[in-house]
Amino acid sequence: MKETIDPWGKMDVKDYDKLSREFGIEKFESFAKKLPEPHISMRRGAVFGHRDFGRIAEAIAHKKPYVMMTGLMPSGKFHLGHMMLAEQIIYYQNYGAQIFLCVADIEAYNTRNGTLKELRKVAIEEYLLNYIALGLKPKNCDFYFQSDRSHDARKSEAYYRLIGMLPKRVTFNEMEAIYGELTPGKIMSVFIQVADILHPQLEEFGGPRPVLVPVGVDQDPHIRLTRDLADRFTRSNDFHFVLPSSTYHEFMKGLKGGKMSSSDPTSYIALTDTPAEAKTKIMKYAFSGGRGSVQEHREKGGVPEVDVAYNMLYTMFEPDDNKMKHIHDDYKSGKMLTGELKQILIDKLQKFLEEHAEKREKARDKIHEFMINS
Ligand code: TRP
Repeated sequence: MKETIDPWGKMDVKDYDKLSREFGIEKFESFAKKLPEPHISMRRGAVFGHRDFGRIAEAIAHKKPYVMMTGLMPSGKFHLGHMMLAEQIIYYQNYGAQIFLCVADIEAYNTRNGTLKELRKVAIEEYLLNYIALGLKPKNCDFYFQSDRSHDARKSEAYYRLIGMLPKRVTFNEMEAIYGELTPGKIMSVFIQVADILHPQLEEFGGPRPVLVPVGVDQDPHIRLTRDLADRFTRSNDFHFVLPSSTYHEFMKGLKGGKMSSSDPTSYIALTDTPAEAKTKIMKYAFSGGRGSVQEHREKGGVPEVDVAYNMLYTMFEPDDNKMKHIHDDYKSGKMLTGELKQILIDKLQKFLEEHAEKREKARDKIHEFMINS
């Protein structure tokens, strides 16, 4: 029997291949090689899967119009896991995508804690500021809140109208089969998210064209339902939608293993951590693939695959393939010790955090350029 994925639960995936087979997610590998200057997360396999990425690759190759649409629940600190998605968004913006970026404040309001006002503050202070500092540009970027779609009434009505119409073509049984147990708040969030993904193709927002939704794999239930609904509304002639495409990235490993999560500060490096804090966290918590003693390590060598510092270098901080190979070989042979490996990461991480903190302060002046809808 197929298991369900709960997008509101704490998902920790052990075997991404198995999960992909079960849900029909295709391998991203072949596209990663063909894309222009693929981002490190694509090249090194953190982005592992997709649905219908072909039409996006084609749009990029032939400079045809396409949309990159994704959303975020404002929750706590912006950490390295969030940064990996942010960098993909910016990659697609640099390669011609029109960006639709949604703050899922209604979803957070209905499924978590906080007032809309508090959620908005987190979204701006933690998410938008970091996005801007990482390189997101206001041009071709439609940043909006689910609670506040647009001051252009024609657009706003189109979005909320779509939300109101979506339930017509799905049954409760189908939804339960996809999501497991549901609550009214979750059901509402589902329809809003489907509208988030489909509305860029409404006439008011530019009409039918390919839409890419890069997400963590916990969001796949929404993608499957959205694709089904896109098809049904197109067949019934109520709307015309190109089936949205998606990519899936692995969850970033938390420092101690498991998943990097905003609810546990010892699991993440936040982009607001100071260089000193980051160093302490890596030294103290980063799970090591090294051996119990120096002597044993020299004899048997380390295990890069399970080493958190190694993995952070691999998926984020050491883009140079040659250097990465040396680190791998030296660590595995026992020539490089855990302390030395961690120091390589710490040096890179501290430099990044220091520069990023400056960029984030400068980003404050640009916030208003993104607030076109509020
Ligand atoms: N549900 C997503 C999350 O938990 C947020 C979200 C809302 C979203 N609308 C979206 C993601 C549209 C992708 C596309 O983070």
